[in-house]
Amino acid sequence: MEYSFSKDDLAKIDEIKSRYPEVMPATLPVLWLAQDKFGHVNEEVQKLVAETLDLPVSHVHGVAEFYTQYYKKEMGKFVLDVCTCLSCHIGGGYDILKHLEKTLGIKAGGTTNDGLFSLQEVECLGACGYAPMMQINNDVFVNHLTPEKTDQVVEGLRKGKYPEFESIAMPLNPNTSASKETV
Ligand code: FES
Repeated sequence: MEYSFSKDDLAKIDEIKSRYPEVMPATLPVLWLAQDKFGHVNEEVQKLVAETLDLPVSHVHGVAEFYTQYYKKEMGKFVLDVCTCLSCHIGGGYDILKHLEKTLGIKAGGTTNDGLFSLQEVECLGACGYAPMMQINNDVFVNHLTPEKTDQVVEGLRKGKYPEFESIAMPLNPNTSASKETV
């Protein structure tokens, strides 16, 4: 696959660069832009970003490698990030990870043959009070996971149905709940 930015992309990148006094902080948003366009930021994409920003490849590589949210290779349609950091570990995060490995027939870091699911073990996603939890496609949080709930989520995704985002925000009004438990 040939990786290049279009004229429109370059205009967006110029706009991103204009937000910062120097070019280095633009690395993160430009990597996001690249991931949106190509679906991942493998080493060739990192090189393209580095050349476009006139930064060392080692810098862009270091940023991309630091965050699991940047995909360093082609991923499945649904990327399941299972947190196994302290709270999630104590709450059964590894049980959920193992359950998904068994259900999907892949190891963490792998992608199913049909290209539908990628599974990642990740560090804390900031929802420790709702452990164990996972994130889908860098977006939807699913909290208080059990094997049964995980199965429901996977089956829903197979049918193209995303679970609703389960907010981790405290409700402003105690009579209402910001948390959605619907799968
Ligand atoms: Fe899992 Fe923080 S430990 S979200």
